[in-house]
Amino acid sequence: MKISFNKPYFDDKELNSVRKALQSGNHSGNKEFSRKLKSRINQKYPNSHVFLTPSCSAALEMGVMLSGIKPGDEVIMPSYTFSSTANAVLVFGGIPVFCDINPETMNLDPVSVEQFITSKTKMIIPIDYAGIPCDMDEISTLAKKHGIIIMLDAAQSYGSYLFDKPVGEKADLVCFSFHETKNLSCGEGGALLVNRKEWFEKAAFIQEKGTDRKRMLEGLQDRYSWISNGSSYILSDILAAILLAQFEKEKLIIAKRKIIYNAYHELFNSDLKSFIIRTSKIEEFMKVNYHSFWIHMHSNADRKLFMEKMSDRGIPAYIGYVPLHSSKMGKSLKVNTEYLPVTDELSSKIVRMPIYPDMTDEELTYIISNTREVVLENFN
Ligand SMILES: Cc1ncc(COP(=O)(O)O)c(C=O)c1O
Repeated sequence: MKISFNKPYFDDKELNSVRKALQSGNHSGNKEFSRKLKSRINQKYPNSHVFLTPSCSAALEMGVMLSGIKPGDEVIMPSYTFSSTANAVLVFGGIPVFCDINPETMNLDPVSVEQFITSKTKMIIPIDYAGIPCDMDEISTLAKKHGIIIMLDAAQSYGSYLFDKPVGEKADLVCFSFHETKNLSCGEGGALLVNRKEWFEKAAFIQEKGTDRKRMLEGLQDRYSWISNGSSYILSDILAAILLAQFEKEKLIIAKRKIIYNAYHELFNSDLKSFIIRTSKIEEFMKVNYHSFWIHMHSNADRKLFMEKMSDRGIPAYIGYVPLHSSKMGKSLKVNTEYLPVTDELSSKIVRMPIYPDMTDEELTYIISNTREVVLENFN
């Protein structure tokens, strides 16, 4: 059997929705489907201003521009993240400063963040790895103490909750991804939530190429012009139509992923427990979107062997991020390429398992039984 690592999940609802968007003749951004989608996101985030963007990478850039990060400003982020987190800072001349992570969650470690704070630190960007919310209490205390902006890179965590609050509650800015690999997808898409009222209007200008078009659309003026810096950070209504249909299935998608996640969790926490260090873990105070399931193996050699043997059986098991501080680009920045002990160790031991909503019972049973065999045959 050949298993996919990830698979887009759609049916006639997406097709009907996109047909309506095409037929409407309104194909650019912030039209009917975008408005409906934004109001849906606002049900979860009533105090945020929602901007639909072409990707999470674009949302991160928009957030950095909005925050006024200038050349030489420092932004602390985990090294264990995707290139987009750092690129968003680099394009405005900011300096990404890479910190270490918590081994239990692979999310940023507040103790490490504190070590990197200087008078130049303007922003912290935590991420929610695998959809598991980053613990924001200590980060938020640090940010308040030093007057630092928090922008949460929630690329993977739309639909997750921390202490009954949707992720991002303690952040000034929150960025989501609706890329093909995420729980809810329109191929390429994202959103920026702005939680500071004083930034709402400025963000609308930035999203619309630095113009005050918003004011014209609201009937406040009869023409619009270039008034600030900006770019085109707008999701097309055609993609918003697909995404709206996906949002209507949010609960179903999470429920389907949960079944797969729980099957892996049970498998690796049974008699296979001694062959790994740990699995991803959901604390009682979290409700998660089951975006991804990972394990830490005992060594890089174990990981290599496990992945090879799984691949022989048609099951893709993948590594996570290559840490940014030790990547080619990260090293060239010569900022802090030093040893980050937890990141360096665990990035060489982590393995992610396949997960997608319409995985059949037969496929799941095949993965579970073959994984068991691979572990028992090769790691005893
Ligand atoms: C933490 C993180 N940030 C940003 C991104 C980029 O998202 P997008 O592809 O929507 O730009 C990803 C992609 O997986 C990610 O994992």
